[in-house]
Amino acid sequence: MRLRSHLRGLTELAETLIEVEGATYRITHPAAADALIDEEEFARDEQLPYWADLWPSAVALARSLSRPSARHVPEERLAGRRVVELGCGVGLPSAVALARGARVTATDHYAAALDFARYNALANLGYGPCTRLLDWHAPRTEGIGCFDLVLAADVLYEERNVPALAALIPTLLAPGGEVLIADPRRKNAPSFLETMQAGGFRPSTEEHSVPSDGRTITVLLHRLRTC
Ligand SMILES: C[S@@+](CC[C@H](N)C(=O)[O-])C[C@H]1O[C@@H](n2cnc3c(N)ncnc32)[C@H](O)[C@@H]1O
Repeated sequence: MRLRSHLRGLTELAETLIEVEGATYRITHPAAADALIDEEEFARDEQLPYWADLWPSAVALARSLSRPSARHVPEERLAGRRVVELGCGVGLPSAVALARGARVTATDHYAAALDFARYNALANLGYGPCTRLLDWHAPRTEGIGCFDLVLAADVLYEERNVPALAALIPTLLAPGGEVLIADPRRKNAPSFLETMQAGGFRPSTEEHSVPSDGRTITVLLHRLRTC
């Protein structure tokens, strides 16, 4: 796989081991995401290589997919379900959903993220997700299909993402589908939840604690179902 070509000689590959409910996932990512900042890309459309870090929200989301819910043991929750991850970055939640038997499409607006997400699933499981470039601000969803579950970790960090994601997500959901968004208390999250509620979704929120760089981060897991 062409992971190194995405690093342009600016940084190295690194690995982080993540425990997810008794399984260890070995996640490969760029060693220094900041080294990949491209001034021209940023000047053009404010793209920054946030994909290149594994964020605490992805860990919280991945772990939540492996826990029993009030209604289901984890195997029943995901087996055979159609799942799409938005802003997948290096793809830990997609890999965990795949391991739980879901049919997964991992999406991002960086091709590099898709290659890392696919590599990480293949390296940990021996099989990978479908991948697809998808920009929330100019979504081209022809042929992508519809999904029982939309996943996203730490995607509400810019105000302009709120209307874009609130418009896109309902178009991806099958009837009765649900949405799981992991959010490290971004200030735009309440307005996203209000917009979704106005569009007929019922939100419920759980707190998860994730150790990160010697601290504990609180990640909110917002579950949205249609009323
Ligand atoms: C903070 S990172 C989180 C990455 C990953 N979900 C995680 O938690 O480790 C935000 C992710 O959203 C992606 N993203 C940002 N803006 C996007 C857009 N307009 N369309 C699609 N993906 C986008 C970034 O490339 C990045 O992978």
